[in-house]
Amino acid sequence: MAVTVWVCKICGEAYISTTEKPHRCPFCGAYEKHLIDSKEYDDTGAWDVELNEKDKANAEKALEVEVSNNIFYKCASNKTPELDGQKLFKILAKVEAEHASVWKKILKLDKVEFPKYDKCAPEYTPNLEESHSREDRAIKFYGQAAAEAQNSRVKEIFQAFVEVETDHLHLSEERLK
Ligand SMILES: [Fe+2]
Ligand SMILES: [Fe+2]
Repeated sequence: MAVTVWVCKICGEAYISTTEKPHRCPFCGAYEKHLIDSKEYDDTGAWDVELNEKDKANAEKALEVEVSNNIFYKCASNKTPELDGQKLFKILAKVEAEHASVWKKILKLDKVEFPKYDKCAPEYTPNLEESHSREDRAIKFYGQAAAEAQNSRVKEIFQAFVEVETDHLHLSEERLK
């Protein structure tokens, strides 16, 4: 079977898969419409973005949200006794770290601090509930930030992340039933 190098236009990461388009970016979770054959990828304007005051403030707030969610998920992955919970929270931590790295690049920062955090629960259900409320808040804020965005690249990222965080919301909803 032929293989293809796919590039995600949202996070810019490349990976190798079959020629059939994957449904999600394995790094940032962006939907397949954002994935493109590396031979056609052009990153002009992707990372050198003019931010007005509002877009910059929203990008900074988004970075804070992603860092906060990353450190919560890392904690939850370590403390949740169930293996499904450990796997779920670990991949959510990775995806949120990828989102943080997108905002870091948009904001042209040298580095991002991920503080130590241990205030998650030692049980699965409360961590799922916290995941649900964190994703719900992120979706609402990103939807609002996408609507406010002046810059088309910033708008594209916020819209893509609304979809990704909605996937995350479904993961907790399905397990809290
Ligand atoms: Fe991606
Ligand atoms: Fe995220």
